[in-house]
Amino acid sequence: MQAIPTGQSLGASIEGIDLAQALTPAERDQIIRYAGQHGVLTFPDQRLTPRQLRDFAANFGELEVNVATMGQQNALPEVMTLSNIIEDGKPLGLSDAGQSWHTDMAYSSMIAFANILYGIEIPMRDGQPLGNTEFCNMHAAYEGLPAELKTKLEGMTITHDFNKFWEMMRTREGSTRKPLTEEQRRAKPPVAHPVFLTHPITGRKVLYANPGYAMRINEMPEDESARILDFLFEHQLKPAYRYAFRWQVGSVLMWDNMGTIHNAVADYRPDERRLIKRCQVAATRFFEEGAPAGMPGTYKQGMGAAAFNSVNGAVVAQ
Ligand code: OGA
Ligand code: MN
Repeated sequence: MQAIPTGQSLGASIEGIDLAQALTPAERDQIIRYAGQHGVLTFPDQRLTPRQLRDFAANFGELEVNVATMGQQNALPEVMTLSNIIEDGKPLGLSDAGQSWHTDMAYSSMIAFANILYGIEIPMRDGQPLGNTEFCNMHAAYEGLPAELKTKLEGMTITHDFNKFWEMMRTREGSTRKPLTEEQRRAKPPVAHPVFLTHPITGRKVLYANPGYAMRINEMPEDESARILDFLFEHQLKPAYRYAFRWQVGSVLMWDNMGTIHNAVADYRPDERRLIKRCQVAATRFFEEGAPAGMPGTYKQGMGAAAFNSVNGAVVAQ
């Protein structure tokens, strides 16, 4: 297995591995290090059943069963279908997933480590793939912040709410999303995480904010919070931090949700078919359950930077 970096702010193609086979612990740990280092990993030319996708994803942490129950197969509730295809009058899956900048599961007490997508049908026009998945590098976004803002926001927290993204999507023309039920809202109450998260793989700080779910910086007045969030939302999308993945049939796309934000580009028509299977991996290997991830004391001992940092490619401690 080897990583071929894109040369851009994020991304590497991981070659020489068949994800349908069980990973060795060494392969699993190498993929975790690559995910921290490159943010976005692409594994070209894979052939996976939904069960094999689930088994691959389960190497990296507990799998999330999404609150939006639509599109799940009953036998494998952790594998979700993302698709604009309608068969016999019924949508195959969620048709508008991720169509605005966000971080998966920032709204959860246990945040996401990775999201893993497998491309089965990819819309094409004039020989070019449509429906790119775009990313921004939050290690770089943190480093690029003005020094005084880094100091000011250090130790502060942001409240994230699942309902923010949901309601924003509902205002889109043609949206079929219904308001969240009381039960869904209770399942995902708003939660606070640090503005700057120490990334458990790299040991470096990332900007953990995203326009999809971030509501409020808790330790400052409302108007100041709104002004600074607007600044952060604009700052984090700078072209220098960006990378766009162009899909191919058979690609597996795995991204680190702690060190990146992403956006699904909806530039294809309803008759241009897109079919993707997805597993969401919670960051359970890095954080203790029960407390908002990233707060002091929630990092699991032995699973953080010390375990995964490498010196000249060798694992320092395990
Ligand atoms: C997601 C998501 C992006 C895409 O599944 O969380 O944002 O390109 N999907 O489908
Ligand atoms: Mn997403």
